[in-house]
Amino acid sequence: MLLALSVLLLIFPPTLSAPTRDLCTTGKNKLLLTIFDGFRWDYDRDVDTPNLDKMAEEGVKAAYVTPPYLTITSPTHFTLLSGRYIENHGVIHNVWFNTTTRQRKEYYMTQFVDEYWDNGSLPIWITAQRQGLKTGSLHFPGTAATYQKETIQVREVEPKAYDYTNETAWRENVDKVMKEWLKDQDLDFVTLYFGDPDEAGHKHGPDSSERREAVKKVDRTVGYIRETAEKHGLSDHLNIIVTADHGMTTVFKGGQVKEIVLTDIPGFSYKDLQFHLLDYGPSAMLLPKEGLLDKVYQALKGGHPNLHVYKKEDMPARLHYSKHPRILPIVLFADPGYVINGFYPIQTNKGEHGYDNEVMDMKPFFRAVGPDFHSNLLVGPFETVNVYPLMCHLLGIKPEINDGSLDNTRHMLISNGEPCDSGADVAESSLQNVFIGLAAVAGFLLLAFVVVTSYNMYKRRKINPKAKDTGDEDEMKADSKQTSF
Ligand SMILES: *[C@@H]1O[C@H](CO)[C@@H](O)[C@H](O)[C@H]1NC(C)=O
Ligand SMILES: *[C@@H]1O[C@H](CO)[C@@H](O)[C@H](O)[C@H]1NC(C)=O
Ligand SMILES: *[C@@H]1O[C@H](CO)[C@@H](O)[C@H](O)[C@H]1NC(C)=O
Ligand SMILES: [Zn+2]
Repeated sequence: MLLALSVLLLIFPPTLSAPTRDLCTTGKNKLLLTIFDGFRWDYDRDVDTPNLDKMAEEGVKAAYVTPPYLTITSPTHFTLLSGRYIENHGVIHNVWFNTTTRQRKEYYMTQFVDEYWDNGSLPIWITAQRQGLKTGSLHFPGTAATYQKETIQVREVEPKAYDYTNETAWRENVDKVMKEWLKDQDLDFVTLYFGDPDEAGHKHGPDSSERREAVKKVDRTVGYIRETAEKHGLSDHLNIIVTADHGMTTVFKGGQVKEIVLTDIPGFSYKDLQFHLLDYGPSAMLLPKEGLLDKVYQALKGGHPNLHVYKKEDMPARLHYSKHPRILPIVLFADPGYVINGFYPIQTNKGEHGYDNEVMDMKPFFRAVGPDFHSNLLVGPFETVNVYPLMCHLLGIKPEINDGSLDNTRHMLISNGEPCDSGADVAESSLQNVFIGLAAVAGFLLLAFVVVTSYNMYKRRKINPKAKDTGDEDEMKADSKQTSF
């Protein structure tokens, strides 16, 4: 019997020891980060989303995530890419501006101002390339810029006046990323950007049927992304993260409320300003002329019950929107539903974002699926600064200094955030194997003991004439033979 056991142990150890592949993150799988601009955390509640539901069953879904303040596109994207709060990475607005010349560039043209993006924080593409990986980006904010003399290896920047909402074009982009980039060119990491449901949310409001249609389009696209990955044989080594930059809330319209119009506030005058960034949804920034900061501040403070007025250095610390030299000396933001107008209520959007990141309507959704992620796991909310360390971990690269932590996202991973190549982990997992091996030996010894004991009892019972058991002797023998092999 002992001989049989030894033979068993020789045969079985490989299967008895735990599958170590699953206990640590190899860093070898590819990663696709997909953004659907303005997809609020709860947009799947009033629309059928079979593909997003399937992705949640097969992967991880967060209740919601918290974007950094200011909750607008370029700044929040650069936080995803760098893991830094906005005051630390310097992409403080969608708009680039020069307060001396009063020149200003809108979202699209700002993409080409290298020094605006390259302000000391390296986006994950460049870090990954420096550590030997191949990366690509399609239409993602920040794609066009050069960072510390390097650009993204494979990139596509949309033309001016691009239609960000065309579903056919979306599918062509998915085909390109999956087939040409991830499969044929064997890229390791790709970021992919889509402009809806943001457009529908702004134009028609988050409670409109148009927004719900845009969510259905997103859902079909998520299905298409996963189908296409499968078709090209990528699914088993591709992690996919799908999230957004910010949410959306309904704007109160004239008549309903007293709108915020700065010229209506007594004591406030444009003559006191050197530069202003106004009529941009719920947030604004002002640079008063030399010596007039207090005058402007005092005039605006308390000027409207739904307008918050801060000197830059007094901004609530939790917003992390204070330290950077590009942030102007006076920062304004409005309560949910209000926008800040300069001269007249000229803003026509029915939906807006850019509010305090504590406002639930500003929170994006978050989903992830792939070989490194748990399946059918619902997790609590976390800040989007933590997506960067998660992505670095998945790609097996060393992160730059950042404001996030893998500790806030590691529970989404099968490995619980243990990399395969760390010395500590190797020691740990081999210790684990030794333990499992010993447990197996103990188990077999116990089994052997039970078998031997019961065989002896059976023999004793056979000798004992008072034994109740009158079963067929040959059958009993056969049984005991079977259990002891
Ligand atoms: C703004 O323009 C002035 C004058 O041309 C220039 O000296 C300054 O460096 C510019 N600032 C920025 C942030 O581009
Ligand atoms: C970031 O931008 C600010 C202001 O535009 C500038 O003063 C600073 O030198 C820049 N820092 C880096 C590292 O590029
Ligand atoms: C949408 O994109 C497709 C493919 O790029 C193009 O052929 C089509 O004309 C576009 N549709 C509209 C309405 O612009
Ligand atoms: Zn956006």
